[in-house]
Amino acid sequence: MQLLQTRVELLHWCATPAQRTVPLHFVPTMGGLHRGHSSLVEAARRPVAGLEPRVLVSVFVNPLQFAPGEDFSRYPRPLEADERLAREAGADALFRPSVEELFPGGEGQLTRLSPPRELQEVLCGRHRPGHFDGVATVVTRLLGLVRPERLMLGEKDWQQLVILRRLVADLGLPLRVQGCATVRESDGLACSSRNRYLSAAERLQVQALPQALEAARGALRAAGDMVNGVGSGVSGEALVAVVREALGRAQLEVEYVELVQPHSLAPLPRLDRLGLLAVAVRCGGCRLIDHTVLMTRLPLVAIDGPAGAGKSTVTRAFAARMGLVYLDTGAMYRALTWWVQQQGVDPSDGAAIEPLLQGLDLQLSTAAGGEQRVCINGHDVSEAIRSPDVTAQVSMVAAHACVRAALTRQQQAMGERGGLVAEGRDIGTAVFPHADLKVFLTATVEERARRRALDLEQRGFPVPPLAELEEQIASRDHADASREVAPLRQAPDAQELVTDGMTIELVIQTLVDLFRERVPEEAWPGS
Ligand code: PAF
Repeated sequence: MQLLQTRVELLHWCATPAQRTVPLHFVPTMGGLHRGHSSLVEAARRPVAGLEPRVLVSVFVNPLQFAPGEDFSRYPRPLEADERLAREAGADALFRPSVEELFPGGEGQLTRLSPPRELQEVLCGRHRPGHFDGVATVVTRLLGLVRPERLMLGEKDWQQLVILRRLVADLGLPLRVQGCATVRESDGLACSSRNRYLSAAERLQVQALPQALEAARGALRAAGDMVNGVGSGVSGEALVAVVREALGRAQLEVEYVELVQPHSLAPLPRLDRLGLLAVAVRCGGCRLIDHTVLMTRLPLVAIDGPAGAGKSTVTRAFAARMGLVYLDTGAMYRALTWWVQQQGVDPSDGAAIEPLLQGLDLQLSTAAGGEQRVCINGHDVSEAIRSPDVTAQVSMVAAHACVRAALTRQQQAMGERGGLVAEGRDIGTAVFPHADLKVFLTATVEERARRRALDLEQRGFPVPPLAELEEQIASRDHADASREVAPLRQAPDAQELVTDGMTIELVIQTLVDLFRERVPEEAWPGS
């Protein structure tokens, strides 16, 4: 592991993004490293789309984020232990600049960044004025020097993570921010550099902090409101009261207990799908924070976009990687189209199709090898539904209001519990408007025509000229976008992902990153 102290050494080691052959992942810290930091370094080491990154850790106790009277001067600075831990976790370099090196013009004259007020008026921001301005300023300074492809941050400092994600988005910085789940000690206490301030007695006392959060989870479970439950039987106030009571019993001094929406950080009067119950306490001379993520249903992801954008392939792989069930709604419409054709019914005649929807037995399942099987009225049509005949008519069948209503009902029933990723053309707009993540996956007509030609060739079907395929795709887009029932539209809150020039692996990785921006690793582990 390389030790870097000056900006010149750092710039030389990092090189510019254009010069790099592998991505650079960056773990900024204030030192006092612990297992939480090791887990960030280990996550940073994981290959992205087949490329093994280099990992840089920085250690800098940032004076800008400490208010007068806070613990800046006594903040732990165990230089050798930090070096050892970073090396053992697998860092390639450790950057440890002095204050003068990082802020050569002095702190007084420094340009400061101030994240939006609404993100700072809650939780820690309310009690540590100027803290997040200091964090935003130093992290931007470091990002400007390092120019990493990926910034790794712990979910433990959730408000910091939200604020830095917003900063990166608002400033248009070309990097991904990856949050990693909180690592805990064996007694449940979240790893923190400040834990070392605690005496043995205080250490026992603060065990009440994770226990209080667990008590709130218990209260939610008891109210039948957790994961499977519908409605919101437990108010924010009741959850806060459970936590306050447990902390009070342990005689911990409470700074705040708040239930907020995890992304906007707006206070939540009632738990609605996803909530963050966050706490700060003081124990002796030490201030500790912790939180838990509460869900009333498992995560739901909606991926829509035009035909031929490669949705099925990447959604299937993404679902497998995240441990989500894959709901391929396109396959359901295709299966019905196959059935309509088998029954000799005119696919343009909605009234004639309607009786076929009564008692329709349409089943999606995942075979042992991971591939999706589709059965309609007892026929396994998994392969048959990919034929050009079905492709040519599925759009027409899917446009009938009666078809849409019947299959939307079935899909919504499948999605009630969450824990799935649904793919189709109106999933984010019509079927699951409240999905945790909506992605509009698309590619240019030219790119989709090229992919379609390759797919037909690989499956042994005749390949029409590219211009003809382009024409077909463009007119199908037009038909899908202009039909009356469930037209193809991008939901206003969907993330657009244009996949031209991206490998499948990179598209999947991008979906994983987008998912992680919406659903904390703590709430849905794995990647
Ligand atoms: O989380 C921390 O350790 C610090 O706030 C950070 C992000 C390194 C900025 O000083």
